[in-house]
Amino acid sequence: MRYDSITEAIGNTPLVRIDPAVHGLRHIDLYAKLEMLNPFGSVKDRAAWNMARSRLPGARERGEAIVELSSGNTAKALAVIAGMHGLSFRSVTNRMRIPEVKDLLLLLGAEIEELPGRSECLDPTDTEDPLTLFHQRLNESGSAHLHTDQYFNALNTEAHESGTGPEIVADLDGRAPDWFVACVGTAGSSTGVARALRAHDPAVRVIGLVGEKSDFIPGIRNVD
Ligand SMILES: Cc1ncc(COP(=O)(O)O)c(C=O)c1O
Repeated sequence: MRYDSITEAIGNTPLVRIDPAVHGLRHIDLYAKLEMLNPFGSVKDRAAWNMARSRLPGARERGEAIVELSSGNTAKALAVIAGMHGLSFRSVTNRMRIPEVKDLLLLLGAEIEELPGRSECLDPTDTEDPLTLFHQRLNESGSAHLHTDQYFNALNTEAHESGTGPEIVADLDGRAPDWFVACVGTAGSSTGVARALRAHDPAVRVIGLVGEKSDFIPGIRNVD
C-alpha cells in the first residue's frame, strides 16, 4: 500500500480474532478491531479527519484555529491535522487526566485550556458546567474558529457508518456480528457502527461501555 498523505492511512484497521484461551468465553468468536493502528493512534482519527477535512481549504487565510472539546485522542489527531495545514489547535477540557497525553499535545503545539468542571465529557444537561458554557459561547461567537464540534457533528458518526462498520462486515465475509461492544465518549463510533451493522442485520445487539454513570449519553440513545 502506498499513500500520498498520512491521512489516507486512516481506517482499514485489522480485525483480529482473540484466542479463546485468552478470553475464556465458550462458543464465542471474539474479534478486536485494532483501532490503535490508525496513524495518530486511535479510533478518533477517523472522526477528526472526517469532521475537519472539508473545512481546511482556506482556513489558514481566514485566520482560523481548530478548536475541540477533547482531553485525549480527538485532540491528538486534530493537533497533527492542524499542524499539517498550518493552523493552530486549541483543546478545551475539564480534565487532562493523562500526563503523557498532555505532554504529547504540547509537543505537537496544541494550546490546552483546562476548565474546573466536573464531567469528563460534554454534558449539555449540566448547564452550570464550565465546559457546557464554553461550548455554548463557541457556537454563539461566530468567531474565527474551526470548531469540529465532535459531540454534535454528524460527520463524527458518519465516519463510522461509512468506514468502521462496513469494514467489520467486509472482514467477516459479508456478515454482521451478533453483538458489537464499544466504549462510549461522544457515541459517534458506537452509533455509526451500529447503524452500519443494523442496516445489514437489524438483529445486531450493541453494548456501549461508559466509565461512569451520566445522565447524558449523546447519540447512542437514538440508535433504536
Ligand atoms: C480509545 C477510544 N475509544 C473509544 C472512544 C469513544 O469514542 P466515541 O467518542 O466515538 O464514543 C474514545 C473517545 O475518546 C477513545 O479515545
